Amino acid sequence: MNKATVTLTDNRSGQSYEYDIMDGTRGPSVVDLRSFFADTGMFTYDPGYTSTASCSSQITFIDGAKGELRYRGIPIEKLATEHSYLETCYLLLNGELPSKEALQDFDLELRHRAYIHENLRLLFDAFPNNAHPMATLSATITALASFHKEHLTLDNDADYHTMASRLLAKMPTIAAFAYRHSLGIPFIQPDIDLSFTKNFLTMMRAYPGGKMHLGPNGHEEIKEVEVRALDTIFTLHADHEQNASTTVVRGVASTGAHPYVAISSGIAALWGRAHGGANESVIAQLEMIGSVENVEKYIARAKDPDDDFRLMGFGHRVYKNFDPRAKILKTLQDELKEELQLDSRLMEIAGKIEEIALRDEYFVSRNLYPNIDFYTGIILTALQIPKNMFTPIFVIGRTVGWITQWIEFKKDPQSKIARPRQLYTGA
Ligand code: ACO
Repeated sequence: MNKATVTLTDNRSGQSYEYDIMDGTRGPSVVDLRSFFADTGMFTYDPGYTSTASCSSQITFIDGAKGELRYRGIPIEKLATEHSYLETCYLLLNGELPSKEALQDFDLELRHRAYIHENLRLLFDAFPNNAHPMATLSATITALASFHKEHLTLDNDADYHTMASRLLAKMPTIAAFAYRHSLGIPFIQPDIDLSFTKNFLTMMRAYPGGKMHLGPNGHEEIKEVEVRALDTIFTLHADHEQNASTTVVRGVASTGAHPYVAISSGIAALWGRAHGGANESVIAQLEMIGSVENVEKYIARAKDPDDDFRLMGFGHRVYKNFDPRAKILKTLQDELKEELQLDSRLMEIAGKIEEIALRDEYFVSRNLYPNIDFYTGIILTALQIPKNMFTPIFVIGRTVGWITQWIEFKKDPQSKIARPRQLYTGA
């Protein structure tokens, strides 16, 4: 059988060039253009990588047209409803779901590794009290690299595992410390008796010295339903193939930098409003809109080409039908509505935006649908998580994806330094 190829013809000279077509197990095939410059003396032009596969990967698959998302081949709907976040982490890192014993070992290991070095804790004092937790988080993860210099050279799977589990375990502690520092209140140390997700909620909400929690009705315990909701949110954020922050993580990995520095760069990239920062912006925008009566006015602004106002939580580079994560969260939101007293005013405004946008020609013709960030904020608010912690929550969930992608990059013999070319139009 002939090899599948693409022929490109330079119509100026009539010269033709042939390139191999590479097939994956799912999704679009790719054209192997690695020798294109050497062959033709030209570069390809693709700002924002809209048509470029930057690597091959076995971790996550998205079919944007069908609204499909799978980690290691398993549909996100199954993972979100039948498995815990820690099982999902194990799956991403190891390629298969854990046995009961393997899960117990992994869980125990993360509980032990959740503590941070006292000197790292002192770093928090250097930040202003009202520092955004994302700034503190990114800087602290860079600093963490200096505490674990040994992870610069990883020789075997055991080394990779230690590097990964250490960061996974410490991320919630550092995020909670960043939050408590932003309020000027004492840190709560991790509690080895608590699960990954309950521990994080406790470090966010507990009073020092005890297990009392502050809630809108005074002191209240963290409810299991809250832990489950946050665990699902972590799972939905765990990986998303070659998104902007993961591309940054792989880019930094390509220079040979320390893995934690690469993840710190991923955190910085995630912070932006067009990416993970959108969850914070969605709630800020819903609060700004203020009431259902104002929705039409803001929809008109979003459609106006002369106005840079965008509906936050709408649109996605890959999903052009629906975001399956948003669908799961909408169902979760409806389930939790009564139990967690979700903010009915914000839900009403969000519902109205969705209702209008889903039938408006502007949004329909551009395939603009609510994305994951449209729904996380209302649920997180009900969990008493403040707005400035929405993106750090995304970071906690995504850390496993970044690490898994970093490891895949390191082990891939095809990996090269990320060094794109340009079309020079200057003087
Ligand atoms: N509101 C109004 N119009 C929009 C929106 C929006 N949220 N998103 C895209 N559009 C319009 C653009 O103006 C453009 O219109 P035009 O063709 O008339 O110029 C068209 O839709 C295509 O938009 P692009 O920006 O070219 O699409 P791209 O794939 O590059 O961007 C992105 C995707 C960044 C997510 C964009 O939709 C956006 O800014 N959304 C709001 C921010 C957001 O919710 N980000 C979270 C993404 S999910 C995540 O990272 C977890």
